Amino acid sequence: FIEAVGAREILDSRGNPTVEVEVLLDDGSLARAAVPSGASTGAFEAYELRDGDKDRYFGKGVLKAVDGVLDVLGPAIEDLDASDQRLVDATLIEADGTPNKSKLGANAILGVSLAVAKAAADSADLPLFRYLGGPNAHVLPVPLFNVINGGEHADNGIDMQEFFLAPIGAETYSESLRWGTEVYHTLRGELKAAGYATGLGDEGGFAPDLPSNREGLEFLVKAIEKAGFTPGKDIALGLDVAATEFFKDGVYRLDQKDWSADQLIGYYEELVRDFPIVTIEDALAEDDWDNWKSLTEALGSKVQLVGDDLFVTNPERLATGIGRGIANSLLVKVNQIGTLTETLDAVSLAQRSGYTAMLSHRSGETEDTTIADLVVATNAGQIKAGAPARSERVAKYNQLLRIEEELGESGVFAGRSAFPRFTA
Ligand code: PGA
Ligand code: ZN
Repeated sequence: FIEAVGAREILDSRGNPTVEVEVLLDDGSLARAAVPSGASTGAFEAYELRDGDKDRYFGKGVLKAVDGVLDVLGPAIEDLDASDQRLVDATLIEADGTPNKSKLGANAILGVSLAVAKAAADSADLPLFRYLGGPNAHVLPVPLFNVINGGEHADNGIDMQEFFLAPIGAETYSESLRWGTEVYHTLRGELKAAGYATGLGDEGGFAPDLPSNREGLEFLVKAIEKAGFTPGKDIALGLDVAATEFFKDGVYRLDQKDWSADQLIGYYEELVRDFPIVTIEDALAEDDWDNWKSLTEALGSKVQLVGDDLFVTNPERLATGIGRGIANSLLVKVNQIGTLTETLDAVSLAQRSGYTAMLSHRSGETEDTTIADLVVATNAGQIKAGAPARSERVAKYNQLLRIEEELGESGVFAGRSAFPRFTA
């Protein structure tokens, strides 16, 4: 059972404070979890509690969240069985008592929830992916490398937030990691040769000031070919448009032009025709449900349409989307919902409903690697954790190498099968 719960304020990869929690069990098992933080956050995400004290970290301190762990959440779960994750998470949710975890903060609650799971895994003497996923956890994911950063994650003129390489044609996870990394380095050379800056954005991708979003895709194709791979067959492309960020009063502002949703959908159809795109995330804004329906009708049979700000890992919002035939994939971010139980519920709802699920980091990350274990535990087959650069990104990809080794012969690389709608 849970003997003690500790917490502290640490820094994330952007130099902002975040919560770290430690859980000690009576058998001596000890585990630690750290909480990530977004920049292009959805309006419907669970609440991230910050101190608002302007004298510390410009108001971004998390000492209140830390106190909430020490004074309320920890005592509420002390003596509970750490392996009863559902009871632990229900107890945390009840201790907060609000619908969006705004009293104690989803950052406080998530830290405890994840640290309990890790401590229970340690106590069972199992790796986290095995503890959470059981004997059937065996699928190694396709890594989606975000190699060009725009939007809220970089100070450049690119509106779309993320441009992915998806090495679907590799034989193994470790091969996919190598392929993506080789193309990443090749891309640096191509950008440099064309006179663009090669500094990095928040997620480790390059942040060049490209004249258009389309240009980003063209650079990816060039780099894939230059590195000796075939676009589409070996390495496909993906986008996180994060369209909520440039949507205002019914209008999308992209490439210095105003677009209606219909025009934007037409533009995506062109992109999907011209480039080997397997996945598009948040192609429209989080509240633009009717147009999401049209988008899904237009493109849903050809490409994975992922809801991030749209669904915010919330089983209720996802159920509404499934009922209305909107999107066909769920982005999974543990801190959008705030407990492990609700995260796993969202993933299994997606999987039962013919939706794919992509595990995801946040733009503000830490050295915590829980999502690498989660993607294998759920057999979800796809993960985005940034570019193969910056230690908080690479930490997740490296953890997957360890899991691949641990699984040995029983591990299977998801490859193309992770994207059932992609037939190009
Ligand atoms: P965020 O970005 O962590 O800043 O929200 C990631 C994403 O939009 O997928
Ligand atoms: Zn997103």
